[in-house]
Amino acid sequence: MSTGSGAPYVTEPQRPGWPARLGPLVVPAGVVRLRPVRLRNGPEWSRLRLRDREYLERWEPEQPGSWRDRNGLAAWPSQWSGLRRLAKRGECFPFAITVDDEFAGQLTIGNVIRAALRSAWIGYWVSSTQAGGGVATAAVALATDHAFTAGGLHRLEATVRPENVASLAVLEKAGYRREGLFLRYLRVQGAWRDHLCYATTVEENGEGVVARLVGSGRAAWPDER
Ligand code: ACO
Repeated sequence: MSTGSGAPYVTEPQRPGWPARLGPLVVPAGVVRLRPVRLRNGPEWSRLRLRDREYLERWEPEQPGSWRDRNGLAAWPSQWSGLRRLAKRGECFPFAITVDDEFAGQLTIGNVIRAALRSAWIGYWVSSTQAGGGVATAAVALATDHAFTAGGLHRLEATVRPENVASLAVLEKAGYRREGLFLRYLRVQGAWRDHLCYATTVEENGEGVVARLVGSGRAAWPDER
């Protein structure tokens, strides 16, 4: 088919890079993998999120309904099907993070915009029992490299409260740059909270975040353990 001007139509695949299974990558907490979220993740998802309310709620956007209603087992099917619908439209990469094959959190690449922007945001949470074990850093590394290769994206952004030192450390280890401060950006725990904007683009990614983590000794391929 042609455009009439002689140039052929270029049709982009509807959802490049999805579905995907990423990893394994070995960090102190164990073997990290990313997989599409599944309906059967419900019991673990709910158990971790109800247990970790205090640890999660101060960083997550406010939503209608109680924490228990939004994170009880009955809430998962609609959360999962909403994420799946967005993923099918190519607007979201909703990953489950596993450590040693156990569900340990989520990493989502959302608001995927194609055409001349090719941009998205990245967000994540990890079970409190795995905190400090390198899981989020490994997950962000795997997802960032994937987004810039098979995913066909050019830019990824993350917004973080300045007080969230663990998340800031994750982004800095993964090579994201601080771009600015968004004032009163997001409603979290009853108030409009400032957020730092971090970003990275494909030009800065070089050999990839995973390769840099492995090179610096922060992570290893499984057979190097
Ligand atoms: N002061 C200084 N550094 C800290 C502190 C602290 N209080 N707490 C943690 N850190 C450092 C750790 O030492 C580690 O750095 P290091 O490897 O150089 O020692 C780093 O923070 C954490 O790195 P990981 O172990 O890879 O991260 P982890 O698997 O613990 O997950 C995360 C971090 C996702 C922020 C987790 O704490 C979490 O789920 N928190 C609650 C939800 C949340 O905040 N999500 C992120 C929201 S922002 C966003 O999504 C863009």
